[in-house]
Amino acid sequence: MGSKLLTWVDERFPLTKMWEEHLSKYYAPKNFNFWYFFGSLALLVLVNQLLTGVWLTMSYVPSAEGAFASVEYIMRDVEYGWLIRYLHSTGASAFFVVVYCHMFRALLYGSYRKPRELVWIFGMAIYLALMAEAFMGYLLPWGQMSYWGAQVIISLFGAIPVIGPDLQQWIRGDYLISGITLNRFFALHVVALPIVILGLVVMHIIALHEVGSNNPDGVEIKKNKNTDGVPVDGIPFHPYYTVKDIVGVVVFLFVFCGVVFFFPEMGGFFLEHANFEQANSLKTPEHIAPVWYFGAFYAILRAVPDKLLGVVAMGAAIAILFVLPWLDRSPVKSWRYKGLISKACIVVFGLNYILLTWLGTQPATGLLTNIARVATLFYFAFFLLMPFYTRFEKTKTVPERVTG
Ligand code: HEM
Repeated sequence: MGSKLLTWVDERFPLTKMWEEHLSKYYAPKNFNFWYFFGSLALLVLVNQLLTGVWLTMSYVPSAEGAFASVEYIMRDVEYGWLIRYLHSTGASAFFVVVYCHMFRALLYGSYRKPRELVWIFGMAIYLALMAEAFMGYLLPWGQMSYWGAQVIISLFGAIPVIGPDLQQWIRGDYLISGITLNRFFALHVVALPIVILGLVVMHIIALHEVGSNNPDGVEIKKNKNTDGVPVDGIPFHPYYTVKDIVGVVVFLFVFCGVVFFFPEMGGFFLEHANFEQANSLKTPEHIAPVWYFGAFYAILRAVPDKLLGVVAMGAAIAILFVLPWLDRSPVKSWRYKGLISKACIVVFGLNYILLTWLGTQPATGLLTNIARVATLFYFAFFLLMPFYTRFEKTKTVPERVTG
């Protein structure tokens, strides 16, 4: 009965073909380590955001008059509303933790290099869309930081010469941030951007499966196939990695649930203290800080004394990531076989990014601003000097087959 039904479906829709192509006959390198958990975890968090988002929308009121009170209503009166909200707010931070680890893995193993440039570019497009999604979602609770954070970011567009002021007004839909801004951000956050993100994730995975996964050795497993055309260092994604990924999911859920149930505000890093007060256009909070995941770019923005140049530096910090595949000139992909300079640069870059993230959440005092300036220089030097240090350093010989 079951197989008859499957045949019936297969004659009309390529179900078995897709299952085989993407799971049971998708041969992934056998040496994936824990860094490879983060792709499937990103998918898990995406599903969490979509589901909890739909349920939040059922009780949320998208108006300047009703938004803040509706969030309080969700937290206090809606059955399990507190849980749905904390899953969504913690999920936003978890998304960035997971995506940052996922991107760092690509940096370690050169997963952005030929032939995976498009996998990386689709990834970067996802990252941009994710930033927009998080930014717009943050306005919705209509707290003080929602309001003033949006005010700071939208005002950045005002620094653009000639069109700046008009563009700023066009984004807000009003002379100041108002219910009209809230309405459009709600539409974009709930409908438009999730569709874009989902579409990009599908393209990201199709592109990856077209060229095949990289691995910690940076060895192309497709270059070494057996007589059946199966890579000798490959194993079917299902069941091997579907089962292995469950381990990552369990560990992740332990940590995630720990935060959701015990530290949903995470000391003000996940839910900022000022956001428990309703938005007030007449009262500027003493210290406006973005949520931690935008910290690094905010620190770069503030490190430059001129507003327009700050905006340019911030934009460049994101844009430069898009061309990463063409900056790395090393003859090898993985850092395992790169020289000492590359290895040191990758480690310093990671630590420097964490430092910038922290700096972005702190008040801009003289000392911290100067540290942010040095860290900004490091950030750009890592990319701009990459064509040189990756090209001229001594590398190790890459093995024919994957190790371990
Ligand atoms: C919603 C966000 C994302 C989802 C759901 C997602 C999903 C995935 C999945 C399932 C894989 C295969 C498993 C793995 O290699 O871990 C993958 C691979 C990859 N992703 Fe993502 N991804 C996301 C965001 C990003 C971002 C922001 C980037 C970089 C800018 C990126 C770059 C890559 C690269 C380079 C690979 C290939 C890795 C390799 O083969 O070594 N992804 N992604």
